[in-house]
Amino acid sequence: MARVFSGIQPSGELHIGNYLGAVRRWVELQREHECFFCIVDYHAITQEYKVAAMESQTLDMAIGLLAAGIDPERAVLFVQSHVPEHTELSWVLTTVTPVGELERMTQFKEKAQRQESVLAGLMNYPVLQAADVLLYKATLVPVGEDQVQHIELMREIARKFNARYGAGFFPEPQALVGQARRILGLDGESKMSKSMGNTIGVLEEPESIWQRLRPAKTDPARVTRNDPGNPEVCNIYTLHRYFSDPETQEHVARQCRTAGWGCLDCKKVLADNMARELAPMRERAAELRGKIHEVREILAVGAAKAREVARETMQEVRERLGLLQPIRAEEFTR
Ligand code: TRP
Repeated sequence: MARVFSGIQPSGELHIGNYLGAVRRWVELQREHECFFCIVDYHAITQEYKVAAMESQTLDMAIGLLAAGIDPERAVLFVQSHVPEHTELSWVLTTVTPVGELERMTQFKEKAQRQESVLAGLMNYPVLQAADVLLYKATLVPVGEDQVQHIELMREIARKFNARYGAGFFPEPQALVGQARRILGLDGESKMSKSMGNTIGVLEEPESIWQRLRPAKTDPARVTRNDPGNPEVCNIYTLHRYFSDPETQEHVARQCRTAGWGCLDCKKVLADNMARELAPMRERAAELRGKIHEVREILAVGAAKAREVARETMQEVRERLGLLQPIRAEEFTR
């Protein structure tokens, strides 16, 4: 049994990109491994966000994860800021992390480009991510492929710490990237992400799924209804591969290649299948929304379990660093 850690930002809605790219895998892993799943609110504040919405977005993400099948009896589900050791270890790790490596990160470069002044928190984002995983000495990190570079850096940070403070202290975590094809947004261009507004939420109503799919990008070569298309370059077809049975997939591909169907016909079938597949999650989420206090309790229990491990690691880390330990109240002599 390995220890697994992964994190997700509290973007509010869990969308099908999150779900197919990572969360579906989490649900499988919790059956066989010791899993820690974390809603990373301290990561979320490295970019502009709505302060007034953070609380509800965090709860909504918890509801989405529980509805998607994360089982608090099997996995530890918690909020990052509820376990202060994450930021504590993160500080320590900044002292073994080369700035050059942080500046090299693709995500940092992309985000920094859009900023007038680049803040230190944005650059240190991958250090906090390393702390998340190393705090639990987890060895498996199920993520989407866009996170592989951060995991590589995390391994380097572990090596650097070990080289300086004790061989073998932190295991080098491994990225677990599913063979899932990259899930593009409905624009058919960029990665599906809430900030791009190109998502479909896992908990969306059937009608709303249809409204989103309707204008979604398909094979750009299909300009008019009678142009034959190529399913291999169509993001809608990629989604069929997840939500439609093999027979339907084949049928859809043929109808596309022969211009038998227009893109709307194809999308209609996808919308129906998607709505059907996601219905059980929608129901579970509705139930959870009716008992928010229970959801918060699940998170509190999760944080307490996580903290047991986190405290121990931080204690060991401080010892490795050679820091003076405070004496305990019982040891006072005056
Ligand atoms: N950076 C990850 C993402 O955007 C989220 C994350 C934070 C994470 N900490 C992590 C993922 C630790 C895996 C492990 O998807």
